[in-house]
Amino acid sequence: MKQFSITVAGGGSTFTPGIIMMLLDHQESFPIRKLCLYDNDADRQSVIAEACGILLKERAPQIAFSYTTDPEAAFTDVDFVMAHIRVGKYAMREKDEKIPMKYGVVGQETCGPGGIAYGMRSIGGILEILDYMETYSPKAWMLNYSNPAAIVAEATRRLRPDSRIINICDMPLGIMVRMARILGISEKDLDVSYFGLNHFGWWTAVKDREGRDLMPQLKKYVKENGYDINIEEDQHADQSWHETFRKVRDVYAVDPDTLPNTYLKYYLYPDYVVEHTDPNYTRANQVMDGREKKVFSAARDIIEKGTAEDCGFMKDDHASYIVDLARALAFNTKEKMLLIVPNEGAIENFDPTAMVEIPCIVGKDGYEKIAQGRIPQFQKGLMEQQVSVEKLVVEAWIEGSYQKLWQALTLSKTVPSAGIAKKILDDLIEANKGYWPELK
Ligand code: NAD
Ligand code: G6P
Ligand code: MN
Repeated sequence: MKQFSITVAGGGSTFTPGIIMMLLDHQESFPIRKLCLYDNDADRQSVIAEACGILLKERAPQIAFSYTTDPEAAFTDVDFVMAHIRVGKYAMREKDEKIPMKYGVVGQETCGPGGIAYGMRSIGGILEILDYMETYSPKAWMLNYSNPAAIVAEATRRLRPDSRIINICDMPLGIMVRMARILGISEKDLDVSYFGLNHFGWWTAVKDREGRDLMPQLKKYVKENGYDINIEEDQHADQSWHETFRKVRDVYAVDPDTLPNTYLKYYLYPDYVVEHTDPNYTRANQVMDGREKKVFSAARDIIEKGTAEDCGFMKDDHASYIVDLARALAFNTKEKMLLIVPNEGAIENFDPTAMVEIPCIVGKDGYEKIAQGRIPQFQKGLMEQQVSVEKLVVEAWIEGSYQKLWQALTLSKTVPSAGIAKKILDDLIEANKGYWPELK
């Protein structure tokens, strides 16, 4: 059986250990010969990498493991790059969230002004990694989680149209695992239709393998509880995630024909979100005090003890999704997965140049899109507005245009006026010095 070489870019990410644990679980169906971690922050990465090195030595000594900040070493002889970088790290995420809140506007990692600011930082970082990969391993695939995935996907469509990059998100799978628990079946038995943009989509059908319609039963649950249900080994277990899953009730009420992605709450209920957010302690603070502390202390614990026996690293949907995707490409499994891809008619009555999130069949030559037909007026209207925001951000980045970025913020459904958009923009420019291209 062929054995693969994988580089994880953003080796110091809180999600790296989970992916490695998941890869270890799959050694029979997806064997690895070489695993490398790459990051541009040597100190941060070394904690995660030293711990993963101990783990790998104990559980899979046959895998050649290394970590580095040198691009040539990281990207030479690689089959898959799994990318999850965060340009500006949590310190900048905190600013993305807190600056809009000063003006009573949603402050979120990927939605609204925060997502726009993050996008302006991420584009350059992702292009850099993609170029390293194509220089040193031109046949490799880059599977990209780095957010904001919608803006990153549009940027790579515009600027690297022939690149072997697939942009992905774990939220639909996270929700589908919840759907499966609600129904008492396995998520692998769900067969769905879905359309939208990243963090901006809807399920139009949920069936089981025999083609039985599961929507009525799901809708009954969602109407009362949203997707709120307790599950084990969950990356979305914090109280704030419970609230997000519960709020789906109200998002669902706006269009009871479909089942929504959780992220729509930021666009349909921005006033509610702002009222329920502490402007001095946002999600970035929760993550720094929660997941980041947990993962790094588990890593330090392994290093101190010199063993990863009963280690505190966790596997979750995030890890299983990217490993399944790599395996589908490696072994032509033809699995149906939701990916962020160029529309080109897959959604019939929507911009063919938009990057949309839809089901695809994944095999050794990449993916084939499954057409989703025509979409309703309500979703189409929302998506046209949002895709225009995303396209304007990318144009602003390419052209260094203040005007276009102001338009992007003004057009975001989360921002009430051009005046407030301008104030937020001016603060974001100040905060992002050294990360954004200079705007004229
Ligand atoms: P993190 O800050 O813990 O990890 C990110 C790492 O990237 C850091 O170690 C940082 O030093 C590194 N980095 C930053 N810029 C880099 C560059 N130019 N080159 C190489 N490395 C660089 O963040 P996290 O919370 O673990 O999340 C990681 C990323 O994954 C974020 O972009 C997050 O939004 C994304 N994410 C996406 C999904 C999805 O559904 N698409 C799900 C979860 C996380
Ligand atoms: C979901 C989304 C990701 C996002 C993550 C944020 O999984 O799909 O795109 O990065 O949530 O989670 P956090 O716990 O960092 O707020
Ligand atoms: Mn996502």
